[in-house]
Amino acid sequence: MPDGFAEFAFTPEVEAATLPLWNKVKARITPLEWRLQAPLIAAINSLKAEKNAVILAHNYMTPEIFHGVGDYVGDSLGLAREAARSDAKIIVQAGVHFMAETSKVLAPDKTVLIPDLNAGCSLASSITAADVRLIKQRYPGLPVVTYVNTTAEVKAETDVCCTSANAVQVVEHVARLWGVDRVILLPDEFLARNVARQTHIGIIAWQGRCEVHERFTAADILELKAAYPNAQVLAHPECPAEVLEVSDFAGSTAAMSDYVMTKKPKQVVLITECSMADNVACDAPDTEFVRPCNLCPYMKMITLENIYETLLHDRYEVTVDAAVMMRARAAVQAMIDMPPLAVPARYDLVKARHHVDVELI
Ligand code: 13P
Ligand code: SF4
Repeated sequence: MPDGFAEFAFTPEVEAATLPLWNKVKARITPLEWRLQAPLIAAINSLKAEKNAVILAHNYMTPEIFHGVGDYVGDSLGLAREAARSDAKIIVQAGVHFMAETSKVLAPDKTVLIPDLNAGCSLASSITAADVRLIKQRYPGLPVVTYVNTTAEVKAETDVCCTSANAVQVVEHVARLWGVDRVILLPDEFLARNVARQTHIGIIAWQGRCEVHERFTAADILELKAAYPNAQVLAHPECPAEVLEVSDFAGSTAAMSDYVMTKKPKQVVLITECSMADNVACDAPDTEFVRPCNLCPYMKMITLENIYETLLHDRYEVTVDAAVMMRARAAVQAMIDMPPLAVPARYDLVKARHHVDVELI
């Protein structure tokens, strides 16, 4: 326990209040860790009620956050939808900065807090609004789709957002709407290449990378498959195409979780950020998880301690310039408003192999 948190004791009251949560996470958290975490979890949960706050926790949060204090958990798309729906006065984003900005854009009247303002994202910092303006000059008349892993200023320059869960559907929808056969899809090169494998729409892409997913290689997957021949390998579409090529399934974090919960594989490997497997494992006791571990340094900046301090001191507030907010909201809302049938719960990148037409900017 860091300095300043010593007064949080594992009392019988705390033990009783957190027992249902303990039962959920005990396969992943040791009793020693729990005795340190449970008092903070209890304190956070009572502060939330006192302040009319909710915590939106991304799938990459550690299990004590995800299962212990998250009111809504899920992928970027699910959390964005929840931010728009929530009645709470305060939203605490247990995730990275672009997610908090998206919440603010969708819920401008709420106070949106993030426990650490440095929780960034290599994809979000790979492109600026000025870059997008130049791209639009270079490709006039083509729609710009941006991944939600971007700043609000970048979203404000774009026509519609997408997440890893709906990128193919958004690209096809927007191409139909604009009557074009090419779409600009920013900023993740690998997501763009993986989308291109599933559609006949030509894709113009930027060279942004997720520093977590770009580290996986096809050789890693083949090595895992050789060591665990019965394991199902599920990979995130931010991975290089060669990784998805040798995986059994590809999808957003929510789609991977859904795959495990519905198909109940005996053994599984999640090719994504490391905490995700811990969180799904708490809900899937009959599945064995093989655990290659790449951590997102930005997601890991969010801790129980700084969530507690966030709620206690109402810090750090995430704000977005009013004009930027209005334009960014139009792009995010355009995604949310897409017909429900066009946004399936999961999709399979591996099975679909169209010609790949990607032009890198
Ligand atoms: P999801 O949209 O799949 O939750 O992914 C967000 C993210 O940051 C992946 O690295
Ligand atoms: Fe960004 Fe990658 Fe971290 Fe997701 S895992 S927040 S895309 S750096």
